[in-house]
Amino acid sequence: MKRIVHVVGTGTIGEPLTGLLVANKADLGIDEVTFHKRTPTPLDQPKIKDLVRRGAKLCVNDDAREGFEAMDLHADYESEQAIEQASVIIDCTPAGNEEKEKLYNKYADGSRLFLAQGSEFGFGKPYARGINDEVLVRGEDQFLQIVSCNTHNIAVIIENIALKPHGDGNLDEGRFVCIRRANDITQSSKFIPAPEVGSHGDAKFGTHHARDVFHLYGTKGIDLNVFSSAMKVNSQYMHIIQFSLKLNSPTDKETIVEQIRGNDRLARTNQKSSGVVFSFGRDHGAYGRILNQTVFAMPSLHVSEDGKEVTGYCFTPQDGNSLLSSVSAALWHLYPDEVAEKLECLRPNFFGEM
Ligand SMILES: NC(=O)c1ccc[n+]([C@@H]2O[C@H](COP(=O)([O-])OP(=O)(O)OC[C@H]3O[C@@H](n4cnc5c(N)ncnc54)[C@H](OP(=O)(O)O)[C@@H]3O)[C@@H](O)[C@H]2O)c1
Repeated sequence: MKRIVHVVGTGTIGEPLTGLLVANKADLGIDEVTFHKRTPTPLDQPKIKDLVRRGAKLCVNDDAREGFEAMDLHADYESEQAIEQASVIIDCTPAGNEEKEKLYNKYADGSRLFLAQGSEFGFGKPYARGINDEVLVRGEDQFLQIVSCNTHNIAVIIENIALKPHGDGNLDEGRFVCIRRANDITQSSKFIPAPEVGSHGDAKFGTHHARDVFHLYGTKGIDLNVFSSAMKVNSQYMHIIQFSLKLNSPTDKETIVEQIRGNDRLARTNQKSSGVVFSFGRDHGAYGRILNQTVFAMPSLHVSEDGKEVTGYCFTPQDGNSLLSSVSAALWHLYPDEVAEKLECLRPNFFGEM
Protein backbone atom coordinates (compact mmCIF):
# COMPACT_ATOMS: atom_id res chain seq x y z
CA MET A 1 0.00 0.00 0.00
CA LYS A 2 1.28 3.47 -0.93
CA ARG A 3 2.12 5.68 2.03
CA ILE A 4 0.38 8.94 1.18
CA VAL A 5 0.34 12.03 3.39
CA HIS A 6 -2.36 14.55 2.53
CA VAL A 7 -2.24 18.18 3.70
CA VAL A 8 -5.45 20.24 3.75
CA GLY A 9 -4.92 24.01 3.41
CA THR A 10 -2.08 26.05 1.99
CA GLY A 11 -1.88 28.86 4.55
CA THR A 12 0.83 29.73 7.08
CA ILE A 13 1.10 26.13 8.24
CA GLY A 14 -0.06 24.12 5.23
CA GLU A 15 2.27 25.65 2.66
CA PRO A 16 5.58 25.06 4.50
CA LEU A 17 4.38 21.67 5.76
CA THR A 18 3.68 20.47 2.22
CA GLY A 19 7.07 21.83 1.14
CA LEU A 20 8.89 20.17 4.03
CA LEU A 21 7.22 16.80 3.44
CA VAL A 22 7.86 16.78 -0.26
CA ALA A 23 11.49 17.88 0.10
CA ASN A 24 12.19 15.09 2.60
CA LYS A 25 9.82 12.49 1.15
CA ALA A 26 12.43 9.80 0.55
CA ASP A 27 14.07 10.09 3.99
CA LEU A 28 10.70 10.21 5.74
CA GLY A 29 9.57 7.09 3.86
CA ILE A 30 6.57 8.78 2.23
CA ASP A 31 5.56 7.65 -1.27
CA GLU A 32 3.40 10.62 -2.17
CA VAL A 33 2.50 14.01 -0.75
CA THR A 34 -0.86 15.44 -1.79
CA PHE A 35 -2.39 18.77 -0.78
CA HIS A 36 -5.82 20.34 -0.93
CA LYS A 37 -6.44 23.90 -2.06
CA ARG A 38 -9.98 25.10 -1.61
CA THR A 39 -10.29 28.43 -3.40
CA PRO A 40 -8.97 29.01 -6.93
CA THR A 41 -7.55 32.47 -6.22
CA PRO A 42 -5.25 33.98 -8.85
CA LEU A 43 -3.14 35.54 -6.08
CA ASP A 44 -2.34 32.03 -4.78
CA GLN A 45 -1.57 30.58 -8.22
CA PRO A 46 2.24 31.02 -8.05
CA LYS A 47 2.60 29.21 -4.72
CA ILE A 48 0.39 26.33 -5.83
CA LYS A 49 2.32 26.06 -9.07
CA ASP A 50 5.58 25.90 -7.17
CA LEU A 51 4.39 23.22 -4.74
CA VAL A 52 3.37 21.16 -7.77
CA ARG A 53 6.75 21.80 -9.41
CA ARG A 54 8.42 20.45 -6.28
CA GLY A 55 6.45 17.23 -6.55
CA ALA A 56 3.34 17.64 -4.38
CA LYS A 57 0.06 16.55 -6.00
CA LEU A 58 -2.76 19.06 -6.14
CA CYS A 59 -6.26 18.05 -4.99
CA VAL A 60 -9.34 20.23 -5.45
CA ASN A 61 -13.10 20.00 -5.04
CA ASP A 62 -14.91 19.03 -8.22
CA ASP A 63 -16.88 22.26 -8.25
CA ALA A 64 -13.65 24.31 -8.13
CA ARG A 65 -11.74 22.32 -10.77
CA GLU A 66 -12.72 24.64 -13.62
CA GLY A 67 -11.41 27.66 -11.74
CA PHE A 68 -8.05 25.97 -11.21
CA GLU A 69 -7.87 24.82 -14.86
CA ALA A 70 -8.38 28.43 -15.91
CA MET A 71 -5.22 29.28 -13.99
CA ASP A 72 -3.27 26.45 -15.65
CA LEU A 73 -3.41 24.34 -12.47
CA HIS A 74 -4.36 20.75 -13.15
CA ALA A 75 -5.50 18.73 -10.17
CA ASP A 76 -4.36 15.12 -9.77
CA TYR A 77 -7.14 14.10 -7.41
CA GLU A 78 -10.53 15.19 -6.20
CA SER A 79 -10.57 16.17 -2.48
CA GLU A 80 -12.49 13.23 -1.10
CA GLN A 81 -10.54 10.74 -3.21
CA ALA A 82 -7.36 12.26 -1.73
CA ILE A 83 -8.62 11.53 1.79
CA GLU A 84 -9.72 8.03 0.89
CA GLN A 85 -6.32 7.06 -0.48
CA ALA A 86 -4.20 8.75 2.21
CA SER A 87 -2.74 7.14 5.35
CA VAL A 88 -2.31 10.46 7.15
CA ILE A 89 -4.48 13.56 6.68
CA ILE A 90 -3.08 16.77 8.17
CA ASP A 91 -5.70 19.47 8.38
CA CYS A 92 -4.05 22.91 8.41
CA THR A 93 -7.16 25.06 8.33
CA PRO A 94 -9.14 26.88 11.00
CA ALA A 95 -12.00 24.44 10.22
CA GLY A 96 -10.61 21.08 11.34
CA ASN A 97 -13.45 20.35 13.78
CA GLU A 98 -16.04 21.26 11.19
CA GLU A 99 -14.41 19.02 8.58
CA LYS A 100 -14.18 16.19 11.12
CA GLU A 101 -17.96 16.23 11.49
CA LYS A 102 -18.64 16.69 7.80
CA LEU A 103 -16.03 14.41 6.25
CA TYR A 104 -13.21 12.90 8.30
CA ASN A 105 -15.43 10.78 10.58
CA LYS A 106 -16.63 8.97 7.48
CA TYR A 107 -13.08 7.75 6.75
CA ALA A 108 -12.01 7.03 10.33
CA ASP A 109 -11.91 3.25 10.01
CA GLY A 110 -8.69 2.74 11.97
CA SER A 111 -6.41 2.73 8.94
CA ARG A 112 -5.92 6.51 8.80
CA LEU A 113 -4.61 9.15 11.16
CA PHE A 114 -6.19 12.64 11.13
CA LEU A 115 -4.34 15.64 12.55
CA ALA A 116 -5.61 19.18 13.09
CA GLN A 117 -3.83 22.29 14.36
CA GLY A 118 -3.85 24.67 17.32
CA SER A 119 -7.24 26.33 16.99
CA GLU A 120 -9.08 22.99 16.81
CA PHE A 121 -9.53 22.20 20.49
CA GLY A 122 -11.46 18.94 20.93
CA PHE A 123 -10.44 17.47 17.56
CA GLY A 124 -8.52 14.66 19.28
CA LYS A 125 -5.85 13.93 21.88
CA PRO A 126 -3.54 16.97 22.16
CA TYR A 127 0.03 16.21 21.09
CA ALA A 128 3.45 17.88 21.08
CA ARG A 129 6.64 16.09 20.03
CA GLY A 130 8.80 15.17 23.01
CA ILE A 131 6.13 16.03 25.58
CA ASN A 132 3.60 13.21 25.39
CA ASP A 133 4.68 10.75 22.65
CA GLU A 134 4.27 7.88 25.08
CA VAL A 135 0.51 8.42 25.47
CA LEU A 136 -0.33 7.84 21.81
CA VAL A 137 -2.18 4.54 21.44
CA ARG A 138 -2.08 2.71 18.13
CA GLY A 139 -5.46 1.56 16.92
CA GLU A 140 -7.17 3.95 19.33
CA ASP A 141 -5.93 7.44 18.48
CA GLN A 142 -7.23 8.25 15.02
CA PHE A 143 -7.55 11.99 15.71
CA LEU A 144 -4.82 14.17 17.22
CA GLN A 145 -4.66 17.90 17.80
CA ILE A 146 -1.21 19.36 17.26
CA VAL A 147 -1.18 22.04 19.94
CA SER A 148 -0.56 25.67 19.01
CA CYS A 149 2.87 27.27 18.75
CA ASN A 150 2.60 29.10 22.07
CA THR A 151 1.28 25.97 23.78
CA HIS A 152 4.38 24.11 22.55
CA ASN A 153 6.52 26.88 23.98
CA ILE A 154 4.78 26.90 27.38
CA ALA A 155 4.97 23.10 27.50
CA VAL A 156 8.74 23.03 27.08
CA ILE A 157 9.30 25.85 29.57
CA ILE A 158 7.43 23.75 32.16
CA GLU A 159 9.15 20.54 31.08
CA ASN A 160 12.67 21.88 31.25
CA ILE A 161 12.61 24.29 34.18
CA ALA A 162 10.11 22.68 36.53
CA LEU A 163 9.52 19.00 35.82
CA LYS A 164 12.55 17.39 34.21
CA PRO A 165 15.12 18.14 36.83
CA HIS A 166 12.91 17.59 39.89
CA GLY A 167 9.92 15.39 39.01
CA ASP A 168 6.35 15.69 37.76
CA GLY A 169 4.96 17.37 40.88
CA ASN A 170 7.46 20.20 40.99
CA LEU A 171 5.41 23.02 39.45
CA ASP A 172 3.54 24.86 42.18
CA GLU A 173 2.22 27.57 39.82
CA GLY A 174 2.95 28.74 36.28
CA ARG A 175 1.88 32.10 34.84
CA PHE A 176 2.48 33.02 31.23
CA VAL A 177 1.98 36.19 29.20
CA CYS A 178 1.87 35.52 25.46
CA ILE A 179 3.08 38.66 23.70
CA ARG A 180 1.89 37.91 20.20
CA ARG A 181 2.80 39.35 16.84
CA ALA A 182 -0.19 41.02 15.18
CA ASN A 183 -0.11 38.79 12.10
CA ASP A 184 2.20 36.51 10.15
CA ILE A 185 4.41 37.81 7.35
CA THR A 186 2.32 35.71 4.96
CA GLN A 187 -0.76 37.73 5.89
CA SER A 188 -1.68 41.11 4.49
CA SER A 189 -4.57 41.87 6.83
CA LYS A 190 -5.33 42.05 10.55
CA PHE A 191 -2.32 44.19 11.35
CA ILE A 192 -2.89 46.48 14.34
CA PRO A 193 -1.74 50.09 14.73
CA ALA A 194 -0.67 49.79 18.39
CA PRO A 195 -0.21 47.15 21.11
CA GLU A 196 -3.52 45.65 22.13
CA VAL A 197 -4.41 43.78 25.32
CA GLY A 198 -6.43 40.56 25.21
CA SER A 199 -9.32 39.45 27.38
CA HIS A 200 -9.38 36.56 29.83
CA GLY A 201 -12.17 34.48 28.34
CA ASP A 202 -11.50 31.36 30.38
CA ALA A 203 -12.51 31.57 34.03
CA LYS A 204 -9.97 28.97 35.18
CA PHE A 205 -7.04 29.34 32.78
CA GLY A 206 -7.26 32.96 31.51
CA THR A 207 -6.67 32.20 27.82
CA HIS A 208 -6.64 29.02 25.75
CA HIS A 209 -2.85 28.72 26.01
CA ALA A 210 -2.85 27.60 29.65
CA ARG A 211 -6.00 25.53 29.08
CA ASP A 212 -4.33 23.70 26.19
CA VAL A 213 -1.10 23.02 28.09
CA PHE A 214 -3.18 21.76 31.02
CA HIS A 215 -4.88 19.24 28.73
CA LEU A 216 -1.62 18.33 26.99
CA TYR A 217 -0.02 17.36 30.32
CA GLY A 218 -3.33 15.88 31.40
CA THR A 219 -2.80 13.13 28.82
CA LYS A 220 0.20 12.10 30.99
CA GLY A 221 -1.78 12.26 34.21
CA ILE A 222 -0.05 15.48 35.31
CA ASP A 223 -2.32 18.11 36.86
CA LEU A 224 -0.87 21.60 36.35
CA ASN A 225 -1.73 24.85 38.09
CA VAL A 226 -1.34 27.25 35.16
CA PHE A 227 -2.76 30.58 33.99
CA SER A 228 -2.11 32.62 30.85
CA SER A 229 -2.77 36.06 29.39
CA ALA A 230 -2.30 37.29 25.86
CA MET A 231 -1.74 40.57 24.07
CA LYS A 232 -0.72 41.59 20.56
CA VAL A 233 2.03 43.95 19.49
CA ASN A 234 2.24 45.75 16.17
CA SER A 235 4.94 43.48 14.75
CA GLN A 236 5.09 40.62 12.26
CA TYR A 237 8.09 38.95 13.85
CA MET A 238 8.04 36.32 16.59
CA HIS A 239 5.70 35.80 19.51
CA ILE A 240 7.39 36.18 22.91
CA ILE A 241 6.33 34.45 26.12
CA GLN A 242 7.07 35.91 29.52
CA PHE A 243 6.96 33.18 32.16
CA SER A 244 6.89 33.10 35.97
CA LEU A 245 7.17 29.70 37.60
CA LYS A 246 6.89 28.87 41.29
CA LEU A 247 8.60 25.58 42.13
CA ASN A 248 8.26 23.22 45.04
CA SER A 249 11.95 22.23 44.98
CA PRO A 250 14.56 24.92 44.47
CA THR A 251 16.64 25.20 41.32
CA ASP A 252 19.52 27.36 40.10
CA LYS A 253 20.69 28.93 36.87
CA GLU A 254 23.33 26.25 36.22
CA THR A 255 20.74 23.46 36.37
CA ILE A 256 18.44 25.32 33.99
CA VAL A 257 21.23 26.12 31.52
CA GLU A 258 22.39 22.50 31.59
CA GLN A 259 18.84 21.33 30.91
CA ILE A 260 18.42 23.75 27.99
CA ARG A 261 21.78 22.72 26.48
CA GLY A 262 20.94 19.04 26.86
CA ASN A 263 17.62 19.13 25.00
CA ASP A 264 17.92 19.39 21.23
CA ARG A 265 14.35 20.66 20.88
CA LEU A 266 15.41 23.84 22.69
CA ALA A 267 17.49 26.73 21.42
CA ARG A 268 19.08 29.56 23.36
CA THR A 269 20.17 33.02 22.38
CA ASN A 270 21.88 36.04 23.82
CA GLN A 271 20.03 38.25 21.33
CA LYS A 272 17.26 40.40 22.72
CA SER A 273 15.46 41.30 19.50
CA SER A 274 12.79 39.00 18.06
CA GLY A 275 13.68 40.42 14.64
CA VAL A 276 17.24 39.16 14.90
CA VAL A 277 16.14 35.69 16.07
CA PHE A 278 13.53 35.58 13.28
CA SER A 279 16.19 36.55 10.78
CA PHE A 280 18.39 33.64 11.90
CA GLY A 281 15.56 31.30 10.90
CA ARG A 282 15.23 33.04 7.56
CA ASP A 283 18.92 32.52 6.84
CA HIS A 284 19.48 29.04 8.28
CA GLY A 285 16.15 27.22 8.68
CA ALA A 286 13.85 25.12 6.49
CA TYR A 287 11.83 27.54 4.35
CA GLY A 288 12.99 30.24 6.75
CA ARG A 289 11.92 28.33 9.84
CA ILE A 290 13.80 26.73 12.67
CA LEU A 291 12.11 23.61 14.02
CA ASN A 292 13.04 24.11 17.68
CA GLN A 293 10.12 24.33 20.07
CA THR A 294 11.40 27.48 21.78
CA VAL A 295 14.30 29.89 21.92
CA PHE A 296 15.26 30.86 25.48
CA ALA A 297 16.38 34.49 25.80
CA MET A 298 19.28 33.73 28.15
CA PRO A 299 19.97 37.28 29.39
CA SER A 300 16.37 37.43 30.67
CA LEU A 301 16.58 34.34 32.86
CA HIS A 302 16.12 35.11 36.56
CA VAL A 303 16.09 32.75 39.55
CA SER A 304 15.00 34.05 42.95
CA GLU A 305 17.37 33.92 45.92
CA ASP A 306 15.62 30.90 47.40
CA GLY A 307 15.63 29.13 44.00
CA LYS A 308 11.87 28.66 44.02
CA GLU A 309 10.82 31.31 41.52
CA VAL A 310 12.04 31.44 37.96
CA THR A 311 11.15 34.07 35.41
CA GLY A 312 12.27 35.05 31.92
CA TYR A 313 11.34 35.31 28.25
CA CYS A 314 11.28 32.89 25.32
CA PHE A 315 10.79 33.48 21.62
CA THR A 316 8.22 31.20 19.93
CA PRO A 317 9.17 29.60 16.59
CA GLN A 318 5.55 30.08 15.63
CA ASP A 319 5.09 27.53 12.94
CA GLY A 320 8.30 25.49 13.23
CA ASN A 321 7.24 23.71 16.40
CA SER A 322 3.83 22.80 14.92
CA LEU A 323 5.52 21.54 11.75
CA LEU A 324 7.82 19.26 13.75
CA SER A 325 4.96 17.75 15.76
CA SER A 326 2.86 17.31 12.60
CA VAL A 327 5.65 15.37 10.86
CA SER A 328 6.41 13.39 14.00
CA ALA A 329 2.76 12.36 14.47
CA ALA A 330 2.54 11.32 10.81
CA LEU A 331 5.64 9.14 11.26
CA TRP A 332 4.17 7.62 14.42
CA HIS A 333 1.32 6.32 12.27
CA LEU A 334 3.49 5.22 9.33
CA TYR A 335 6.57 3.90 11.16
CA PRO A 336 5.77 3.59 14.88
CA ASP A 337 9.16 2.12 15.75
CA GLU A 338 11.29 4.44 13.64
CA VAL A 339 10.04 7.93 14.43
CA ALA A 340 13.35 9.22 15.85
CA GLU A 341 15.45 7.70 13.04
CA LYS A 342 13.21 9.05 10.32
CA LEU A 343 13.14 12.54 11.90
CA GLU A 344 16.94 12.68 11.66
CA CYS A 345 16.66 14.18 8.17
CA LEU A 346 15.22 17.34 9.77
CA ARG A 347 18.15 17.71 12.20
CA PRO A 348 19.87 20.48 10.18
CA ASN A 349 16.90 22.70 11.06
CA PHE A 350 17.49 22.45 14.82
CA PHE A 351 19.91 24.83 16.48
CA GLY A 352 21.41 24.84 19.95
CA GLU A 353 22.42 28.45 19.85
CA MET A 354 21.57 31.43 17.69
N1 LIG B 1 -0.17 30.92 11.77
C1 LIG B 1 0.59 30.31 12.65
O1 LIG B 1 1.72 30.73 12.94
C2 LIG B 1 0.13 29.04 13.29
C3 LIG B 1 1.00 28.41 14.17
C4 LIG B 1 0.63 27.21 14.75
C5 LIG B 1 -0.62 26.67 14.46
N2 LIG B 1 -1.49 27.34 13.62
C6 LIG B 1 -2.80 26.72 13.36
O2 LIG B 1 -2.87 26.25 12.01
C7 LIG B 1 -4.22 26.29 11.54
C8 LIG B 1 -4.24 27.06 10.25
O3 LIG B 1 -3.75 28.35 10.49
P1 LIG B 1 -3.01 29.19 9.36
O4 LIG B 1 -2.46 30.40 10.03
O5 LIG B 1 -2.09 28.33 8.56
O6 LIG B 1 -4.29 29.59 8.47
P2 LIG B 1 -4.34 30.48 7.15
O7 LIG B 1 -3.00 31.01 6.82
O8 LIG B 1 -5.46 31.42 7.33
O9 LIG B 1 -4.75 29.42 6.02
C9 LIG B 1 -5.93 28.73 6.06
C10 LIG B 1 -5.98 27.75 4.90
O10 LIG B 1 -7.06 26.87 5.16
C11 LIG B 1 -7.91 26.81 4.01
N3 LIG B 1 -9.26 26.57 4.47
C12 LIG B 1 -9.98 27.27 5.36
N4 LIG B 1 -11.16 26.66 5.60
C13 LIG B 1 -11.17 25.53 4.86
C14 LIG B 1 -12.10 24.48 4.68
N5 LIG B 1 -13.27 24.46 5.32
N6 LIG B 1 -11.77 23.48 3.83
C15 LIG B 1 -10.62 23.48 3.18
N7 LIG B 1 -9.68 24.46 3.28
C16 LIG B 1 -9.96 25.48 4.12
C17 LIG B 1 -7.71 28.11 3.27
O11 LIG B 1 -7.98 27.83 1.91
P3 LIG B 1 -8.36 28.91 0.78
O12 LIG B 1 -7.50 30.11 1.04
O13 LIG B 1 -8.03 28.21 -0.49
O14 LIG B 1 -9.81 29.20 0.93
C18 LIG B 1 -6.20 28.38 3.54
O15 LIG B 1 -5.40 27.70 2.60
C19 LIG B 1 -5.05 26.91 12.68
O16 LIG B 1 -5.58 25.84 13.44
C20 LIG B 1 -4.00 27.62 13.52
O17 LIG B 1 -4.39 27.69 14.89
C21 LIG B 1 -1.13 28.50 13.02
